[in-house]
Amino acid sequence: MHVLVVGSGAREHALLLALRRDPEVDTVSVAPGNAGTAAVADQYEVDVTSGEDVAALATRIGADLVVVGPEVPLVLGVADTVRAAGIACFGPTKEAARIEGSKAFAKDVMAAAGVRTATSEIVDNPAHLDAALDRFGPPGGFAAWVVKDDGLAAGKGVVVTADRDAARAHAASLLEAGHPVLLESFLDGPEVSLFCVVDGDVVVPLLPAQDFKRVGDGDSGPNTGGMGAYTPLPWLPAEVTAGIVDEIVKPVAAELVSRGCPFSGLLYAGLAVTSQGPAVVEFNCRFGDPETQAVLALLESPLGQLLRAAATGELSGQPPLQWRDGAAVAVVLAAENYPGRPRVGDVIQGADGDGVLHAGTARRDDGAVVSSGGRVLSVVGVGDDLAAARDAAYARIGSIRLPGSHFRSDIGLAAQEGRISV
Ligand code: GLY
Repeated sequence: MHVLVVGSGAREHALLLALRRDPEVDTVSVAPGNAGTAAVADQYEVDVTSGEDVAALATRIGADLVVVGPEVPLVLGVADTVRAAGIACFGPTKEAARIEGSKAFAKDVMAAAGVRTATSEIVDNPAHLDAALDRFGPPGGFAAWVVKDDGLAAGKGVVVTADRDAARAHAASLLEAGHPVLLESFLDGPEVSLFCVVDGDVVVPLLPAQDFKRVGDGDSGPNTGGMGAYTPLPWLPAEVTAGIVDEIVKPVAAELVSRGCPFSGLLYAGLAVTSQGPAVVEFNCRFGDPETQAVLALLESPLGQLLRAAATGELSGQPPLQWRDGAAVAVVLAAENYPGRPRVGDVIQGADGDGVLHAGTARRDDGAVVSSGGRVLSVVGVGDDLAAARDAAYARIGSIRLPGSHFRSDIGLAAQEGRISV
């Protein structure tokens, strides 16, 4: 099988490495990739937002399966165009990808499926903003305001704050840019990312993971696209994970089938485990980043065969997934000033070899690997338990040199110290 992975992040680097471990995968290609993926796959330039260009590339190189990593091409319908060209594609249709592309659509699906989620209100008129802020923040009985961009914003459109002025300023700037604002009730409790390979109403969960969205230790500073992750979650009972699958993911998958837009691909449930049980923070239509880097490090089952089965209507016939015992931790190395406008173009040293997954990297004409984006690398450690996995990840990241870079030092620490309970 020849698999083409579309995207350029550490998530795609992790997908490529896991695909290469599948004995039925003989060739892996990536488009457009980065300096790290070039060492593990045939690399091609492509405009990932153009379904025609991706389908033409897949046809030209003889790909049997296309795996679309990021949400933007999926929301634009790239998977539909690839399938229309007769090539199997792992990724939902444009219609089904609205589960991530439109928060209003996702809320409607969840309401119809009877799934617990934050109450919410869309504000598209600045004149209604102040009254809505009073209903959704501390005056309305919630611990904080949750203000989201209704469309895609790479994780950075979300502000969670107990400061009304900050909440108002974020909402006003979104409205000024013509983006409807979603105000949500604050969901208290530890967060879980549960990835499920889905085809119609067939749902195959992967290991649950936890993501760290704030830039600084102790969950300080602004939201980012994700600064680290670990898996599995020692504090999450197996029956809670099973309940998330049965009472949240399966009903949502069934609701999408009944609406005539069945989901096929990776359905990502982002949840908070509240005192009333798990509640959905968001659904995404693709593998999460950086959780994928940790989750796939423990996957022993052949990934190419799993994704191909989902893409070709054979998911229900797949054997149970096999996982390596132990834990995995991914720590993101970010460029100076990220999540603001990142400093780029600096030479990175020590980023070759096992456990280092590239994202915002490029190779200069002189051969040096330089930073080219905000999240530069994900460093993955695997061990027999969370402490060993953390040690491995932090030892490795400590050997990498990138001027001005930063990373969180507490990925997985609260879980390792038994400070998370549900
Ligand atoms: N880890 C957050 C995301 O992938 O959206």
